[in-house]
Amino acid sequence: MDLQIHGQANARLPAAYRQVLVSWSVQGGLNPPVITRARGCHFFDQDGKSYLDMTSGYVAVPLGHGHPKVVKAIQQQAEKLCWVASSYFNDVRAEYAELLNRISPWPEGLRVHFASGGGEANDDALKIARLVTRRSKVLTAYRSYHGSTIGGSAMTGVDRWRDPMPNLPGMVKFFTPYPYRSPFFTTDAAEETRRALQHLEQVLSHEGAHNVAAIVLEPMTGSSGMVIYPDGYLQGVRALCDRHGILLVFDEVMTGFGRTGAAFAATRLGVLPDLMSFAKGASSSYTPLGGVLVRESVASHFDTELFDVGHTHAGHVLAVAGGIAALKVYLEEGLFERTLEIEGWLREGLLALQRAHPVVGDVRGMGAHFGIELVKDRQTREPLVQWHHAGGSGPMKAFYGELMRRGVHAYGRYNVVMVSPPFVITRAELAEGLDAFDGALTALEKTL
Ligand SMILES: Cc1ncc(COP(=O)(O)O)c(C=O)c1O
Repeated sequence: MDLQIHGQANARLPAAYRQVLVSWSVQGGLNPPVITRARGCHFFDQDGKSYLDMTSGYVAVPLGHGHPKVVKAIQQQAEKLCWVASSYFNDVRAEYAELLNRISPWPEGLRVHFASGGGEANDDALKIARLVTRRSKVLTAYRSYHGSTIGGSAMTGVDRWRDPMPNLPGMVKFFTPYPYRSPFFTTDAAEETRRALQHLEQVLSHEGAHNVAAIVLEPMTGSSGMVIYPDGYLQGVRALCDRHGILLVFDEVMTGFGRTGAAFAATRLGVLPDLMSFAKGASSSYTPLGGVLVRESVASHFDTELFDVGHTHAGHVLAVAGGIAALKVYLEEGLFERTLEIEGWLREGLLALQRAHPVVGDVRGMGAHFGIELVKDRQTREPLVQWHHAGGSGPMKAFYGELMRRGVHAYGRYNVVMVSPPFVITRAELAEGLDAFDGALTALEKTL
């Protein structure tokens, strides 16, 4: 990700700051601000400068920071019980399972397996699919991000050039629709769907559909480009899975818990997978919580077979208590529905930016989850920076640096900037954030 922040302010920090390896970054020359506290949609550095968070961190803090109900629930649970082995039943884990069943997209109900984050959850989803089907191969999209664990990296399609390790055996990639830059050489959405499904059928035929345990997809891609699939595509993938006895796994780590205007993107898009991985928004990242939601008809497989998956921290009681509190706030405050209102504000504001700035090639999104795709030329759609290592990211670093200078945080990858604010953002805060985007886009265009 393009997350490297080269500020000036902290050149003389104590050495301990540099003894923490910064994710996804070359360490030399890093100088991000030192963040010491946060409240609502803002976080603050040690000098008191505030940053409005237009991407909810890594699309992970939908409630903003310091929600009193979640903080209190975590405090109370910490006093009672932080952790107990997952081999025991536990009241907190049971309460969460019950709540999850209230928002389940599956009428038949679900069971939950716990992990600590999204990458781990996706690794576990693979294991579950392989245990259930006794098949080995797994298909994932080239345009995808599934995490930084060994399994998550193998599933991930973007930035494969970075990975010094060979791909894991059995992991197969395919191309998915991308209406703005069709890999299937069409500008017609229906044709894109048809050709993409034909391509997937061919991949299945060559790999042997009977060898395939799962197809794993983000229902709308996140940091790999914020791509929304054209109508009928996910339905077509579902039908192929049904035909061949393949489990469909939705990675809802980013889209789950209200981000796209419903509890899950599966609900919004009307396509039911068999498993869904989750993390991030589940606890609004107040505690490290992730996992896999398994539809009842698949989970019941393990009533007579060994569920050979687990972690010391699976169902960490304090982490789950954070999940319960966050989910109750989402439901009590109607925040999943509120993302539909934010969708209207974002669409209006971002389309206005597109009209004002030729560098904005495309605006797309759902709920409180939008991407803007930057181009050198609107006609040719040539990306502002290329989607590979030779592309360089100089202009993008300058863009994010300018946003920070203006007191706004956002992130993205290559030429796609993500705009995914907390669900509690006010219209005035959003307008302030979009104003900073306007200024940063103007500054960017002056350098082109
Ligand atoms: C769609 C998706 N899957 C998985 C992950 C990995 O989650 P984590 O960073 O919690 O391991 C991410 C993180 O950005 C993600 O966006």
